[in-house]
Amino acid sequence: MTYTRIAGIGSFLPEKVVSNQDLEKTMDTSDEWIRERTGIKRRHIAGAGETTSSIGLEAAKRAMQDAGVGPEDIDLIIVGTCTPDKLFPSTACIIQRQLGVKGPAAFDVNAACSGFVYSLDMANRYIKTGGATTALVIGSETLSRITNWEDRGTAVLFGDGAGCVVLQASEEPGILATHIHADGQYEDLLQVRSGVSVGYEKTQSGGAFIEMKGNAVFKRAVATFDAMARETVADLDGELGDIDWFVPHQANMRIIKAAAKKLGLPMERVIATVDEHANTSGASIPLALDQAVRDGRIKRGDTLLFAAFGAGFTWGSAMIKY
Ligand code: UT7
Repeated sequence: MTYTRIAGIGSFLPEKVVSNQDLEKTMDTSDEWIRERTGIKRRHIAGAGETTSSIGLEAAKRAMQDAGVGPEDIDLIIVGTCTPDKLFPSTACIIQRQLGVKGPAAFDVNAACSGFVYSLDMANRYIKTGGATTALVIGSETLSRITNWEDRGTAVLFGDGAGCVVLQASEEPGILATHIHADGQYEDLLQVRSGVSVGYEKTQSGGAFIEMKGNAVFKRAVATFDAMARETVADLDGELGDIDWFVPHQANMRIIKAAAKKLGLPMERVIATVDEHANTSGASIPLALDQAVRDGRIKRGDTLLFAAFGAGFTWGSAMIKY
C-alpha cells in the first residue's frame, strides 16, 4: 500500500511586523481588547513588493531543502489560497515557473481558511493512487490586501504568511486520514462581497474587503472543530488520546482553547501561533507546524491532528503520523 508522508516543511513570514500598539495609533482599538478577545499580539504584513506567490515561493524553497528534493522531483503543486496574486495564471503556476519546475500539474484551491487542508487532502489522493510521487502543498496568503483598515472588527485579526509541506509517496504511513466538508449556506457570515463577476461596486469604497459576522462565525467554528476531530479519530477506530499534537487553524486563541477543552486535550498538546501570526487563513496550519517542528516540540513519529475552518463555510481535518 502506498502512503503519503510529510518529507519536508518550510515557512516564510514577511519582514514587516505590525503590533497591536501600532494599530492603536491608526484606529479605535486597544492592545488589551485585541489580546483579550483574540490572543493576537502582532502580525506580519507583506511589503510593497511581496505577493502571495513570492512568499509561497520562499516557503516552498525551504520545504524542498528540508526534504532534500529538487525541482526535477516535483510532480504536483497545489496552492491553498484565497488571496492569489491575480485571477490567472494561478499562483501555483507562478510559483512553478519560479522554482524551475516544468510540466506537472499546478493549480490553486480556494477553500478560504481551509485551503491548506483541502490541498493536503487532494495531494494525498493523487499520491495514493499513483498520480504523483512528490508534491508541494503550499498555504500562502496576503490577507492584508483584502483587509478594510477602516473596520476595526476585522482589521486587527489578519496577517500574511506562507507555509509549505513536501509530500512523498512512502511505504510507511503518513497521512492516516483526511476529511473535507463544506456548507454554502453560511456565505453571509464571512465573505468578500465584491469581486470580478459580481462587480466591485458592491462595497462603498469599490474595493474587495473581508466582511465577517464574528460572533456567529465563532460559535460555528468551535462546534465544528469538535465534530471534525471526533469524526477523524472515529474513522481510525482511535481515541482522542492518540493525538500527540493538535495543530488547528489559527483564527482566535479563544476558539483554539474552547476546541481543545471540548476535546479534552490539554493546551500543552496544542500548537498555537495566533499570538505572533494572527489569522493567516490557509497559511496558518503549515506556519504553526513549521514552528513546532523547528522548536523541537513535534518529532518524527508523533501523531498530529490538523483542523481548519473558514469561509464557505468549509472545514477539514487530517490525522498524520509525522
Ligand atoms: O478564520 C476564519 C474563521 N474566523 C474566525 O473564526 C473568527 C471568529 N470570530 C472571532 O474571532 C470573534 O468573534 C471576534 C474576535 C471577531 C470578535 O470577538 P467577540 O467577542 O465576538 O466580539 P464582538 O464582535 O461581539 O464585539 C464586542 C464589542 C463590540 O462593541 P459593543 O457593540 O459591545 O459596544 C465591538 O464594536 O467589541 C467591539 N469591537 C472592538 N473594540 C475594540 C470590535 N472590534 C474591536 C476592536 N477594538 N478591534
